[in-house]
Amino acid sequence: MEIIKNYDLKKLNTFGVSAQTKFFVELNNENDLKELFDSTEFKNNEKLFLGGGSNVLFTKDFDGIVVLNKLKGIEIIEENSENVLIRSMGGENWNDLVNFVVDREYWGIENLALIPGTVGASPVQNIGAYGVEIKDTLENVEVYEIETGEKKVFKKDECEFGYRSSIFKTKFKEKYFISAVFLKLNKKEKKNIDYKVLMEYLEENKIEVKSSKDISNAISAIRKNKLPDPVLMGNAGSFFKNIYVDKNKAEEIKLKYTDVPLFEENERIKIPSGWLIEKCGWKGHRVGNVGIHEKQALVLVNYGGATGKEIKDFSEQIINSVNDKFGLILEREVNLI
Ligand code: FAD
Ligand code: EPU
Repeated sequence: MEIIKNYDLKKLNTFGVSAQTKFFVELNNENDLKELFDSTEFKNNEKLFLGGGSNVLFTKDFDGIVVLNKLKGIEIIEENSENVLIRSMGGENWNDLVNFVVDREYWGIENLALIPGTVGASPVQNIGAYGVEIKDTLENVEVYEIETGEKKVFKKDECEFGYRSSIFKTKFKEKYFISAVFLKLNKKEKKNIDYKVLMEYLEENKIEVKSSKDISNAISAIRKNKLPDPVLMGNAGSFFKNIYVDKNKAEEIKLKYTDVPLFEENERIKIPSGWLIEKCGWKGHRVGNVGIHEKQALVLVNYGGATGKEIKDFSEQIINSVNDKFGLILEREVNLI
């Protein structure tokens, strides 16, 4: 384990912005954790655990130690005729885990195909897409307490999962390092194809779903068509969360904008933030090196050479603009560092 001084993080965040960290270390082995936790560089500095860097925006240099999670390994822990319990180390690439699972014809995370980043980050914001969230299959999260170095296990119901949220993003933000995740998957068919866009895609392409891989393939195709590839254009997926409002607010907006798409979900009403941003005229708009993607108004992009501060300032303009027009405050999904 080598702790490097003054390291540039440009290649380690999907926005592709430059930021120097005072110290940097790659974690390849769980046994190195003790050495890391005992080091003065770790003890005396602010810490940041990083996976794929696909949900962070570095707005300035980081005056601390960045720990890149490269802990690898996927194993089947137990199985019966119905289910299989899988333990994946946190440094595994999320989509590699999806492929591992669909190749064995297990069901449960196929709708989450092609979400960038690591397994270790997946519970942090309870990753979700196309009608499924990680919380639906997650059993336990294995962690190390950063303050003490002690190993612990959080059961699913201790994680306080919500929409793009968990205890690791709220109360215990930066308090635990997630080393591994346990998922309970189905061996028997359990498809989830009710999400409108997915259903339409399957119908249009005359795809009869026979395996979980059929779904992960369909999802991958939908995503490739809609979302910019960070390798080609810096971005972090949805920059903002969708907004949930009460009935009165929804009716107030509907009176003025009859075309507003409203989705009822568990007695709450979702207004897509993408629609709000588009309605304010931002979709496809570019200011300097930063802009809003032309196919998805929730996605902020770095056309090349943007700084994190530029992207943050741009996001503030959007927040103000949506607030002025609709009286709604957009919340960022991306973690500002
Ligand atoms: P990072 O960006 O490295 O870290 C994110 C946060 O988690 C940071 O605060 C970090 O400190 C913390 N963290 C990371 N690893 C650990 C760990 N092991 N222990 C403790 N804390 C940790 N998200 C969705 O939910 N649904 C989508 O459909 C989706 N689509 C996307 C599409 C694109 C093109 C992109 C670029 C992003 C998308 N995202 C989506 C966001 C992103 O993929 C997820 O949030 C993903 O889980 C981030 O993983 P990461 O390893 O890159 O995390
Ligand atoms: N919409 C617009 N204009 C846009 C984009 C969206 O009007 O430019 C409206 C449309 O009415 C559309 C609706 O928003 O029908 C929903 O759009 P979409 O299906 O593209 O999904 P989203 O709500 O914009 C969310 C997640 C994505 C996830 C998809 C699919 C959030 C913040 N984003 O996007 O997650 O992949 O659903 O489930 O919840 C991410 O978190 O980074 C991410 C990409």
